[in-house]
Amino acid sequence: MSFRSVFIAVVIAFALILSAFLINRARPKAETEQAAAEFVRASGKCAECHARSQYSVVHEYEISKHAQKSVSCLDCHQAAQGQEKKDHHGFVIASVPLTAANCRSCHEQIYQQFVRSRHAAPAWAAIHGEKGLTPEQVNFSETYQPGGTRRPPHPFVTAEGASAMASGCERCHSVGKPNPDGTIGTCTACHTRHTSSVAIARLPSTCGQCHLGPDHSQIEIYEESKHGVMFAAQERLLNLSVAPKDLTTRDMFVPTCATCHMSGINGLGVTHDPSERLSYYLANAISEKRPNYAAAQAKMKQVCAQCHTAAVIDPVYQRAEAVVTATNEKVTAAKEVIDGLRKDGALSSPPFSQPIDFVYFDFWHYDGRTAKHAAFMGGADFVQWHGNYPMLRKTAELNAMADELRRNHGKK
Ligand code: HEC
Ligand code: HEC
Ligand code: HEC
Ligand code: HEC
Ligand code: HEC
Ligand code: HEC
Ligand code: HEC
Ligand code: HEC
Repeated sequence: MSFRSVFIAVVIAFALILSAFLINRARPKAETEQAAAEFVRASGKCAECHARSQYSVVHEYEISKHAQKSVSCLDCHQAAQGQEKKDHHGFVIASVPLTAANCRSCHEQIYQQFVRSRHAAPAWAAIHGEKGLTPEQVNFSETYQPGGTRRPPHPFVTAEGASAMASGCERCHSVGKPNPDGTIGTCTACHTRHTSSVAIARLPSTCGQCHLGPDHSQIEIYEESKHGVMFAAQERLLNLSVAPKDLTTRDMFVPTCATCHMSGINGLGVTHDPSERLSYYLANAISEKRPNYAAAQAKMKQVCAQCHTAAVIDPVYQRAEAVVTATNEKVTAAKEVIDGLRKDGALSSPPFSQPIDFVYFDFWHYDGRTAKHAAFMGGADFVQWHGNYPMLRKTAELNAMADELRRNHGKK
């Protein structure tokens, strides 16, 4: 055999191996990796039954990154540490509702960010106080979110009753519910159970499930802001499913809630603690600066700076901070009216039993908050007609009601 034919044979053989490799590499991971017997058993068998009875569950899973990466049904549905097990058609699965424990096994670092956020224990404590939380959980959370967890239950718990809590408050605030397995909260509020998708988590409507209504109108404010208008117009041009570490402003050139509050766009760090970029406690009646005011504001401005110049960003903050100061003054004045009535005995009933209690509550909890949130997030209509105007009107109402209460008190 001549050298020439040996050489050709070697070249052809190499080319064949290389092309087999390239073809194989081009095949989806799911196809090349799923061959593992364990994966077929733990997903194929579950899917066989469940595709018949709950097609949607299996389909959502099949289009997930998890399926691509060979994370099986059983990987999530097996009992995590501290969970009860049960036999299930030849498998052993968790017999309790799944929790963050079933995700943290593979996403520990994210769980650690989440658990120090206000989406964890403080969200639950906003309704039920410390009830259900261990002293360790309260102490842990308090080191990151001072005052968020060590507090009494909300007065509405007894005023409105258990059914209102179970179908109302808890539907949103259970994002931070303490679980019997010792973990806190759920990851599926933003990722859904089976798509486990970053694309869904980045949609404004995902956050808007809870962040809506007169007491925290974030989705409504966003929708009327330039950002929301641009998102509605250009959503289909955005690439919402890029992995966080690769996400750039080329993929998302319009911001959503996640971009400003969580994403690691253009190499900034991703966070599961949305407090990191907040400089005020805007949800409070009187909004104080947060302990990390300067660092937090710098972090948020750095996000804005991925798309804007300082000439656009700084005036937004200047105007919004002026709204915070002015709203604090208005709420303080209203509070002095109520406190004065209580001090003089003209208002002696328990909280939330007289109309004036509700006018004052709506004053700061609806209108004051709305004005402040909207000033930062580009909602002019909400600063004015759902914020300052109702505060002006309710100031007149409050004063009239206070006069009436004092007159009646004088007669007694
Ligand atoms: C032989 C068919 C079959 C197989 C295999 C099967 N399931 Fe099921 N599964 C069912 C049926 C039927 C139900 C309805 C309740 C029941 O009978 O347990 C169910 C219910 C469930 C539920 C609802 C909660 C509960 O505990 O009842 C979950 C979650 C579940 N299956 C997950 C899985 C997972 C994960 C696998 C694979 C590890 C799997 N199933 C394998 C038939 C099956
Ligand atoms: C990323 C983790 C994860 C994977 C992977 C996963 N599940 Fe689930 N599944 C969940 C969570 C979380 C729930 C909500 C459970 C709860 O409330 O107890 C759930 C609920 C269910 C339910 C009850 C749904 C209902 O609406 O009644 C079924 C059935 C189920 N899963 C089957 C499957 C099957 C079959 C697979 C694979 C094809 C699978 N799951 C893969 C996390 C997962
Ligand atoms: C057995 C390990 C395992 C478990 C359990 C698990 N995951 Fe994952 N998850 C992965 C892997 C692997 C990836 C792919 C990572 C990558 O591509 O870099 C992933 C990716 C993700 C992503 C990014 C998806 C995307 O669109 O880029 C999300 C979100 C996610 N998981 C959420 C969850 C949630 C929520 C749970 C619990 C309900 C969970 N995971 C349970 C291993 C797991
Ligand atoms: C539609 C979902 C939803 C419902 C229902 C809901 N909340 Fe909230 N709540 C939220 C969101 C979102 C915030 C965060 C607002 C912000 O930071 O601007 C919040 C904030 C709060 C706060 C202020 C933050 C804090 O930790 O002090 C309290 C207190 C509170 N909620 C209590 C309740 C109580 C009590 C109920 C029922 C009477 C209730 N919420 C019903 C979504 C909801
Ligand atoms: C299941 C309901 C729910 C969903 C979904 C949700 N949140 Fe929240 N969020 C809450 C509650 C409840 C609070 C108030 C927690 C507290 O302080 O008591 C909150 C608080 C916040 C805060 C204020 C934190 C602070 O330090 O004051 C930010 C910012 C926030 N959420 C952003 C988001 C973003 C961005 C998304 C979507 C990616 C989102 N949230 C999705 C319920 C939700
Ligand atoms: C308030 C909504 C919200 C909650 C609750 C939430 N996530 Fe996320 N998660 C997001 C958003 C938004 C992103 C995408 C961030 C970005 O755009 O860069 C994300 C990204 C991820 C990723 C991809 C990260 C990466 O770097 O590849 C994983 C994995 C993940 N989340 C897991 C979890 C787990 C586990 C939990 C529960 C402990 C959880 N998430 C709770 C909103 C949430
Ligand atoms: C363009 C960036 C941007 C977008 C988009 C955005 N926000 Fe904000 N958000 C901000 C800024 C800035 C603040 C005020 C920060 C501070 O306190 O320094 C804020 C404040 C908040 C707060 C108030 C927390 C408190 O102290 O009470 C919540 C909750 C919130 N945003 C949720 C959302 C949700 C939900 C969406 C989407 C519907 C959204 N944001 C969209 C920039 C944004
Ligand atoms: C991912 C990119 C992106 C980020 C991040 C972003 N913006 Fe924008 N912003 C836009 C786009 C796109 C527009 C519309 C520009 C136009 O009109 O051409 C816009 C418009 C604006 C406008 C003009 C509104 C009007 O009424 O014309 C202001 C003010 C603004 N942004 C402030 C901010 C602030 C403050 C932040 C950070 C808290 C921020 N933006 C974060 C992309 C972004």
